[in-house]
Amino acid sequence: MFSRDRDQGRGRRGGIAKIGTNTIRSDTDSGRGVSRFGTPSRGSINNIRGGLKGKQPGGGLKKVNWDLRTLEPLRKDFYIEHPAVRNRSNEEVNQFRENAEITVKGENVPNPIQYFEEGNFPPYVMEGIRREGYSQPTPIQAQGWPIALSGRDLVAIAQTGSGKTLGYILPAIVHIIHQPRLSLGDGPIALILAPTRELAQQIQEVANSFGETAAVRNTCIFGGAPKGPQAHDLERGIEICIATPGRLIDFLEKGTTNLCRCTYLVLDEADRMLDMGFEPQIRKIIEQIRPDRQVLMWSATWPKEVRALAEDFLTDYVHLNIGSLTLSANHNITQIIDVCHEYEKDSKLYRLLQEIGTEKENKTIIFVETKRKVDDITKNIRREGWQAVSIHGDKNQQERDHVLQEFRSGKAPILVATDVAARGLDVDDVKYVINFDYPSSSEDYIHRIGRTGRRRQTGTAYAFFTSHNMKHAGDLIEVLREAGQNVNPRLSEMAEMAKAGNFSNRSGKRFGNSGGNTERGNGRRSNNDGRGRGGGSIRGRGPSRSGNSYQSSSNVYSGSDYSTYSNMKQNTSLSQNTTYGYSTQRSYGQGSMPQNYGGGDNYGSGYPYRSTTY
Ligand SMILES: Nc1ncnc2c1ncn2[C@@H]1O[C@H](COP(=O)(O)OP(=O)(O)OP(=O)(O)O)[C@@H](O)[C@H]1O
Ligand SMILES: [Mg+2]
Repeated sequence: MFSRDRDQGRGRRGGIAKIGTNTIRSDTDSGRGVSRFGTPSRGSINNIRGGLKGKQPGGGLKKVNWDLRTLEPLRKDFYIEHPAVRNRSNEEVNQFRENAEITVKGENVPNPIQYFEEGNFPPYVMEGIRREGYSQPTPIQAQGWPIALSGRDLVAIAQTGSGKTLGYILPAIVHIIHQPRLSLGDGPIALILAPTRELAQQIQEVANSFGETAAVRNTCIFGGAPKGPQAHDLERGIEICIATPGRLIDFLEKGTTNLCRCTYLVLDEADRMLDMGFEPQIRKIIEQIRPDRQVLMWSATWPKEVRALAEDFLTDYVHLNIGSLTLSANHNITQIIDVCHEYEKDSKLYRLLQEIGTEKENKTIIFVETKRKVDDITKNIRREGWQAVSIHGDKNQQERDHVLQEFRSGKAPILVATDVAARGLDVDDVKYVINFDYPSSSEDYIHRIGRTGRRRQTGTAYAFFTSHNMKHAGDLIEVLREAGQNVNPRLSEMAEMAKAGNFSNRSGKRFGNSGGNTERGNGRRSNNDGRGRGGGSIRGRGPSRSGNSYQSSSNVYSGSDYSTYSNMKQNTSLSQNTTYGYSTQRSYGQGSMPQNYGGGDNYGSGYPYRSTTY
């Protein structure tokens, strides 16, 4: 069901679309509403189409007719292969790729590096790496850097929290320092587009910490903040521009900046940037960039619906994938799916919060479908004594910044959010994600839960899953299986019912026609929902504040499982030398389920959150 005040839900996206300088109505920076792939819901058609008459995004921007013959020649390949990399045999390279689950598709893909020193980065970049205390490149960096530094177009897909940001920031710096200096009136050399303001600001932090010493200047351009300082930065000249599309288009239309010098384009959260709402804006922006630019797209998910579109913007590109080639979650996250009734969710949430506890080092994000519900839930849990803050698209930017700051610092260890916080945010010590409402696509689920389990840490994600979410059951089971997680038999039953009711796994997905009826299960009720299972619950694993009750009972999440943090085969030089992060954890396989997890009759007798009912 598409609720009126929904934030980033697909289909309706009613809210306010910020398009160019014309504010129509938009819940977020995204301004979704018109889908390239599916039919927008009724509300959005009325709101957006009506409001968009003659006001297409970037309507004031003229398409540039680039003539490569008249352009200054562009140099994009700065990669000098380190002798150690060059001298590795094919066998060694293949072994490394296999161990790190690196898959590459494309012509003449350079070998991966294995150590930072092999990247041939300038000393000040290496200094930044040392300062951060990173011991080794993550797989996406190990293989992504040589490709990006060679000037190749790239689609790079790797798990949440696996260091993609640095994957494109460091090559950006190298690219920039090899370009002619900016002259007065020149726009940025590197443009990084991101879907939310908070993510753009976070990327800026990374650009700051690695770009400062290289005298590579940057600015962050996003809606909801005063334009003056942003315009000033642009006019002064900056090498890196990190932007949400709407505000950038605004500045481009006004002529505050231009993309004539732009030769390095990044789409972070690329599938999101290419889906409904953003795609027309992205197209407008890319038209302003010379065609021999380098384009790099990054995400943890790469649904087939965006692939063809992405190719419109890529030339002779390499596709790089880490881990499973199917939709997959970060394996450091324990996923617990609670199949329940809608009306049970509130009490379940309170019980769960009591159970997991929240402290500064123990943060929780609760994802909720609508903005109004975010407000309501925040109010309620605050009334119960929890230190919670909330974020959604109706809050002004100052509030949003303040809230995120409170959450990052741990002053408020619970964040209640719409999908505006689902992608890219990297907050230390997020130990739990609770999907109070199941998201409207399986990709969103992957990104949401990916707010935990980052940088060699572990986390737990809970989802309240009701019959309304039935159409996602099949996809979710695949994700759970791929990550070696328990599959609640009741979820399997739902998947069966969805199939029988013609809810194919991937139907009504992010780009499909996800009208209200599918969310409601086509009017069918799950007649199995909550029957005879002693409270509609699964036996699962979950940390507890006091006693590691789940860990200890399951023998699964012992410290050693986590501290090793590696699926690298023991006989490789890499795994002998180091703990290599971000690799998949096969130890989560079925064989490592809690011993008393049996499905069937066990259900309902001892519920994930320790108590029998809540
Ligand atoms: N080589 C490395 N070793 C250890 N930590 C790293 C390394 N590279 C990056 N990190 C850290 O990993 C964390 C996650 O990085 P980042 O936010 O770039 O992940 P991501 O892959 O973009 O995730 P998402 O898909 O959620 O956007 C950051 O805190 C970053 O500082
Ligand atoms: Mg990211």
